[in-house]
Amino acid sequence: MKMWAGRLREPLDAGFERWQRSFGFDRRLLGEELAASRAYARALERAGALAAPETKTILDGLDRLEKKAAEEPAWLDASEAEDVHHFAELGLVELVGEVGSKLHTGRSRNEQIATDLRLYVRRQLGEIRGRLADFIEVFLARAGGLGRTAMPAYTHLQRAEPVLAAHWLLAYAEMFFRDAERLADCAKRVDALPLGSGAVAGAPLALDRAALARELGFAQISANSLDATSDRDFALEFLHGLGFVALHLSRWAEELALFSTAEYGFVRLPDRFATGSSALPQKKNPDALELLRGKAGRVLGAATALAFVLKGLPLAYNKDLQESQEPLFDAADTVAGSLAVAAGFLGAVEFDRERMQAAAQAPFLNATAAAGYLAARGVPFRQAHAAVGQAVVYCLEKSKALETLTLDELRRFRPEFDKDFYDALKLEAVLAAHDVPGGTAPARVEQALAEAKRRLESLRADALRVKEPSAHA
Ligand code: ARG
Repeated sequence: MKMWAGRLREPLDAGFERWQRSFGFDRRLLGEELAASRAYARALERAGALAAPETKTILDGLDRLEKKAAEEPAWLDASEAEDVHHFAELGLVELVGEVGSKLHTGRSRNEQIATDLRLYVRRQLGEIRGRLADFIEVFLARAGGLGRTAMPAYTHLQRAEPVLAAHWLLAYAEMFFRDAERLADCAKRVDALPLGSGAVAGAPLALDRAALARELGFAQISANSLDATSDRDFALEFLHGLGFVALHLSRWAEELALFSTAEYGFVRLPDRFATGSSALPQKKNPDALELLRGKAGRVLGAATALAFVLKGLPLAYNKDLQESQEPLFDAADTVAGSLAVAAGFLGAVEFDRERMQAAAQAPFLNATAAAGYLAARGVPFRQAHAAVGQAVVYCLEKSKALETLTLDELRRFRPEFDKDFYDALKLEAVLAAHDVPGGTAPARVEQALAEAKRRLESLRADALRVKEPSAHA
């Protein structure tokens, strides 16, 4: 029986009926639907629309409904409900009789879905931020484990200067910290309760919306019923926040895949997260990394899909909005799964510290330090740069490195070169020279790691503080 059967004379076309149903995907919102319904039943009683015994019957019924749904998934599978709101309504009447339909007094599915989705996004924000914290924790642990191991840093994919490998890992931790913060910011806009907006004009009852908001753990109530029932900006923001996570996962995965090639050889793929080739017996493939890279397209696609659904919608509720749900669920599931796999991978990957360290000492990664040496002795940097550039060309012709040139050879380029030049070119000195906050000098990296650990603690404490609707007011 349709909720609106009174109005139409003919049954729906069977194909259209199947095609427009959302219960197949919005049934995952049943928990949110029931939480909002409990709060609404109490609000109805306070507004004088339900007698106390009716409220009790409805609340008991909602509890039974929740239990039955959990114990008998077949009950949901067999349901002909159009959507999760319809299912809850039918289920309640099935369990407690006609009084159950009083729960719909003054309430519309337009505000119900807006409320359920906010509850859903709020929970997912906590979930994803918790997973980001788990992933960041692995970065910090691996950074700590790498100690003073150095590696080349690249610009334009060309070897540039040596950095600590820990510094490289901490660069990714920064991206994921920013993502967690971006999601926390999104949570502020999620935190407004639409319930009480009715279908479009506001509930036709003396509802205490502030009490409803408190009960459902929202900091505020929405200010305009037209906006509240048609707004999905909070979901779009969340999807873009997820898009950033997926984008950063993709960049990280790409770099690890590159570093796992024979050409770089800085990391060895963990067997647990690699695959073989059915055709090429010697191969070990970075499938996990490639999938992480590929999922970014899917998640960013979801954000774009929702933006296109919203574009051009007149106020207020339009059924197009039902199309916001699948991209939302898919992106949240995808990012949650990706973060778990990425954390597992990073925990298991082996770093070839010797190879990294050797590559960090390859000829000319200390060329910038050589120019710095001259600059510290009063040579204007442009001239210092030119002199070292010429020395590099000379080295390439003679198959030498800067540190194997004799002092006589060096002085052909600049008279300021002296005996202490050779110490200044050693890896330790080159690293230590970058002694600014945010630089790769080992003492700075140690500080950055300690600071990142503190930030992780506060992220964890914050992510755990996810609000849940109170079961009993
Ligand atoms: N399943 C619908 C959705 O997701 C619920 C709201 C339906 N409202 C309506 N007036 N048909 O948007």
